[in-house]
Amino acid sequence: MTQTSEIAGKASFDHIRYAQLWEDADVLCAALPQAPGKTLVSICSAGDNALAMLTLDPARVVVVDLSAAQIACLHLRIGAYRALSHPEFLELMGSRPSTQRGTLLDRATAALDAQTRDFWHARRAEVIAHGAGGVGKFERYFRIFRTRLLPLVHSRKTIDAIFVPRSKADRADFLSTRFNTWRWRLLLNFFFSRFVMGQMGRDKAFFDHVEGSVAGHVARRIEHAAVDCDPSQNPYLHWILKGTHGDIVPMPWRAEHYATIRDRLDRLDIRQGALEAFIQDGDKADGFNLSDTFEYMSGDVFAQVYGQILSAARPQARLVYWNMMAPRRVPPRFADEVIRLTAEEDRLKALDKAFFYSDFVVEQVTG
Ligand SMILES: C[S@@+](CC[C@H](N)C(=O)[O-])C[C@H]1O[C@@H](n2cnc3c(N)ncnc32)[C@H](O)[C@@H]1O
Repeated sequence: MTQTSEIAGKASFDHIRYAQLWEDADVLCAALPQAPGKTLVSICSAGDNALAMLTLDPARVVVVDLSAAQIACLHLRIGAYRALSHPEFLELMGSRPSTQRGTLLDRATAALDAQTRDFWHARRAEVIAHGAGGVGKFERYFRIFRTRLLPLVHSRKTIDAIFVPRSKADRADFLSTRFNTWRWRLLLNFFFSRFVMGQMGRDKAFFDHVEGSVAGHVARRIEHAAVDCDPSQNPYLHWILKGTHGDIVPMPWRAEHYATIRDRLDRLDIRQGALEAFIQDGDKADGFNLSDTFEYMSGDVFAQVYGQILSAARPQARLVYWNMMAPRRVPPRFADEVIRLTAEEDRLKALDKAFFYSDFVVEQVTG
């Protein structure tokens, strides 16, 4: 059984699971070298990180995803970059409040193929209410957390206070004295129980290979986001707790990259299907954004897929991926074929604003 049939057989891919990308494009692009003339490969998910990779100036970015709904998220962005100004783009996506999302959606989808347009028009009311970046199952899960549960634990004043810039020592003090209350700990343990996450956010199948408590993991990562990093600079935390982005938005949505990405949209080569379809085509690439797909696979399938990726990688190619809870690193049988860039990983891990991942991996093919 291949890895794709393994996960596709268990989880349903007929709806938007991630309406925005919850992996930090800043660290992804810092881990991949500039790529003029080169081919990069990216898992699509909501498409934002494939767009971010265009800033590295590659000849093309091959974007793959098993899910048609996730590919439709990328097509919407392509339409939006082409048809909307940057402030309008942020309104459509939900980073900023808006009273005109319906019109913006119509403009962004006008030049898309009929199927994608219909797909988005069926979700018009949701887009108007939450922004196109808020309509996935994962975002819905965060929204329930923010609107129904968080108010039972913290006042709006406390939530707002998280995003006031302060020193690291003051952040540690804020977390322990004002935020980490017994009510908060109770909420974490309930909301991040495997049962609730499986019901409302991630598919239960995705936890098959995860060891330990999800809530314990989340508590450790919150400390990273709230103390080691500066919450006032964290768009992901801002969306989770307040439902929009603050001054800082994810890298590919920033004003300074908008024209560059729009001008390079033709370099995207979008393919619905499995990652290994790219590999089987005999295509070769210089860099891979593998998202956290490896941790959705059993150890054996992971090793098999890793080997296939190596066969499609040019010398010096980089493999970049995240792990949330399941440990995934170059399998021992391929250890001689890649170098682990641990200094790079440690530097970037400390900066990773999408704080729920426990590991960020950068491996470079030898030769
Ligand atoms: C692994 S999920 C993780 C999402 C992510 N953490 C985020 O923040 O968006 C990303 C995407 O990978 C896709 N996917 C998983 N395994 C794949 C495979 N073997 N080939 C192609 N796409 C795959 C899923 O359909 C999903 O859209």
